[in-house]
Amino acid sequence: MVNEYTKELTARNFKYNVIDELKEMQNEYRKNGIPTILEEGLNELLLILSIKQPKTILELGTSVGCSGIAMLKAIPNARLVTVEKMPSVQSEALINFEKYGVKDRITSLVGDSVEVVKTLTQKFDFVFLDCNKAGYAKLYPLLKNLLNDGGVIFADNILFRGYVAKEKECPKEYRTLVQKIDNYNQIASSDSEMITCFFDVGDGIAVSYKK
Ligand SMILES: C[S@@+](CC[C@H](N)C(=O)[O-])C[C@H]1O[C@@H](n2cnc3c(N)ncnc32)[C@H](O)[C@@H]1O
Repeated sequence: MVNEYTKELTARNFKYNVIDELKEMQNEYRKNGIPTILEEGLNELLLILSIKQPKTILELGTSVGCSGIAMLKAIPNARLVTVEKMPSVQSEALINFEKYGVKDRITSLVGDSVEVVKTLTQKFDFVFLDCNKAGYAKLYPLLKNLLNDGGVIFADNILFRGYVAKEKECPKEYRTLVQKIDNYNQIASSDSEMITCFFDVGDGIAVSYKK
């Protein structure tokens, strides 16, 4: 019940934070099976970004660009490096970046997150981790190295439909994935160099701050 109450309040507040056109675009893509961050998660992402005011953002999992556009609209001085595995999806994102007038502040890369992250030398103030959930644990130490002090890693889907916290019995096909997400949560929670909090918001969010 408490969860329903806070969900409703957050959904109400979300209305004021993302332009209607972008919300409509998200809904259309979702109807067609293209993933994009849920309202509650996006509201929290925009909250933490607005407090942090990062100059440099790394996003893993561009999809068609909805979260990237929302982040850059929220932080007008920020630049974004975003990584997507599927070339056709990245092409669609590029069209959307142009449409929303943020293309000049974006470096859009195609490839597997782990492989691309290994090649990056630039440091970031903020990382939005939203690619294949099974890869989160492998990415964690690499991302930590790329973070400036005071930097933040914002990881989505860390409760994955309630299965990670064992709220519901996990179907067989998700067991390995759920174990891997739990592994990320255990690694992040055991790291004395970071402050990490876990939120039961959207599909579950972990926010880690580099001390
Ligand atoms: C949940 S969606 C991202 C949604 C997007 N951040 C948003 O909120 O609008 C995850 C994306 O990660 C991409 N992806 C999956 N595995 C990947 C990998 N290993 N490296 C990079 N991207 C990956 C998928 O193709 C998909 O577009």
